[in-house]
Amino acid sequence: MTKQTAIPIPIPQSFEGRVALITGAASGIGHTVAHYFADRGARVVGVDLDPRIVSLMAELPGGAHHGIATDLTVEGAASEVVEETLRVGGGLDILVNSAGIALLDAAVDVPMDRWQATLDVNLSASFFLAQAAGRVMIDAGYGRIINLASQAALIGLDQHAAYAASKGAIVALTRVLSLEWARHGVTVNAISPTVVETPLGKKAWAGEKGERAREAIPVGRFAKPEEIAALIGYLAGEDAAMVTGSNVVIDGGFTSV
Ligand SMILES: NC(=O)c1ccc[n+]([C@@H]2O[C@H](COP(=O)([O-])OP(=O)(O)OC[C@H]3O[C@@H](n4cnc5c(N)ncnc54)[C@H](O)[C@@H]3O)[C@@H](O)[C@H]2O)c1
Repeated sequence: MTKQTAIPIPIPQSFEGRVALITGAASGIGHTVAHYFADRGARVVGVDLDPRIVSLMAELPGGAHHGIATDLTVEGAASEVVEETLRVGGGLDILVNSAGIALLDAAVDVPMDRWQATLDVNLSASFFLAQAAGRVMIDAGYGRIINLASQAALIGLDQHAAYAASKGAIVALTRVLSLEWARHGVTVNAISPTVVETPLGKKAWAGEKGERAREAIPVGRFAKPEEIAALIGYLAGEDAAMVTGSNVVIDGGFTSV
């Protein structure tokens, strides 16, 4: 009789004792990710422009979570958020940069203020928060940073000039941070989803345009925020120490056909 190899039963990943700072945590991917970490024992600090962030974080399972209502594009916001995280959480192990906006215009029509607003939130705010968090993580010798990029960083999408520029830059920035911080135990990765069923995704891909986009995805549907959270959870875990500088694509095959 051949000996059967035991198939290990997966043990749910625990983030007990970890402090996770999640931006854009009042909505969509950020909110789902906050839940994901809270469910697995982390202490979550959520940041958002939306003042409901304070009550939303208080409602997360496990208690001891904290919400900060602030505009991350304001100068100094990043260091204030990190200081507050250290004060309430006693450390900072994981940063997920999920706050973002999608202002769509034909390239010939993009006004300067919408271009700048897109880069301010999607790129600059993510960088300065990674910088402030990175300093703490380097000192601690451990950290996990995950930046939300997009399929728009990889392929041309109609009306996505500003958004694509911001997301392409996030992927490039992620490589530099990963290189500079790798020897300090800090990994930095980007993820690039296709359309995700969130308020932002539903607004940007409403109607017939959305139906066409859905049809063009080999798996035949948009992504769910929970699927994005699971990927972020992997990258945020101790098992992912060898994954850094990557742009992990989660797009149902869309950009590979
Ligand atoms: N939904 C999609 O289809 C999709 C696809 C690919 C990438 N992404 C990216 O994922 C991230 C999250 O998207 P989502 O779909 O969850 O969006 P969402 O609109 O549901 O949530 C984004 C959150 O960011 C917050 N925010 C915006 N500007 C801010 C600022 N200046 N300061 C603080 N908070 C701010 C908003 O208040 C909101 O709660 C974004 O970076 C987005 O570009 C989304």
